[in-house]
Amino acid sequence: MMEITLIQGDITEQWVDAVVNAANSSLLGGGGVDGAIHRKGGPEVLAACRALRASHYGKGLATGQAVATTAGNLPATWVIHMVGPVYSAGAPERAALLASCYRESLRVADELGVRTLALPAVSAGIYGWPLRDAARIALGTVRDTPSGLSEARFVLFGPETYEVFEAVRREWGEGLGHGSMVD
Ligand code: APR
Repeated sequence: MMEITLIQGDITEQWVDAVVNAANSSLLGGGGVDGAIHRKGGPEVLAACRALRASHYGKGLATGQAVATTAGNLPATWVIHMVGPVYSAGAPERAALLASCYRESLRVADELGVRTLALPAVSAGIYGWPLRDAARIALGTVRDTPSGLSEARFVLFGPETYEVFEAVRREWGEGLGHGSMVD
């Protein structure tokens, strides 16, 4: 039985099996979560990303896809890099790509035998996705995707993001699909 938990904090400080990175298609780092993970994870993470670019991902990682590397100096064992869609009011179909990010991250996590996974609010930062909609897609997709996880931990950076995720969770009440929401 997977538990979905919400905490306010820094995703690079989570003692979990794997941490999901809100990356970009280059896989070569950036700001926000990406910057924090590379800064704290250290050069080993970037080296592993470069190796992916030199092998299977010559053109970069496509939006909606996910791939794992070592987590370097982070407390976690793996980083699962995924590329969220950039928000555009005129492109509602991108919501499916955002959902795919979470589904693909859980698939990769299952392949690795991951039991505890920390996830950020993908696309809700630099990529501009409206927070409430990003939270609905994130929580709904993870709730509805069967996986071997014991915990999916959303790590929300700052009170506003946490409150929005908490509000979405309250909208749903208890007894959600196979996943349950606990604080
Ligand atoms: N821990 C947890 N959450 C964080 C952290 C952190 N250390 N740093 C930022 N966040 C939050 C942001 O506040 C936002 O709510 O993660 C969410 C996602 O924000 P971004 O990291 O900006 O990711 P995204 O919106 O998906 O944009 C991805 O930004 O950093 C670049 O290389 C990255 O081009 C890519 C783009």
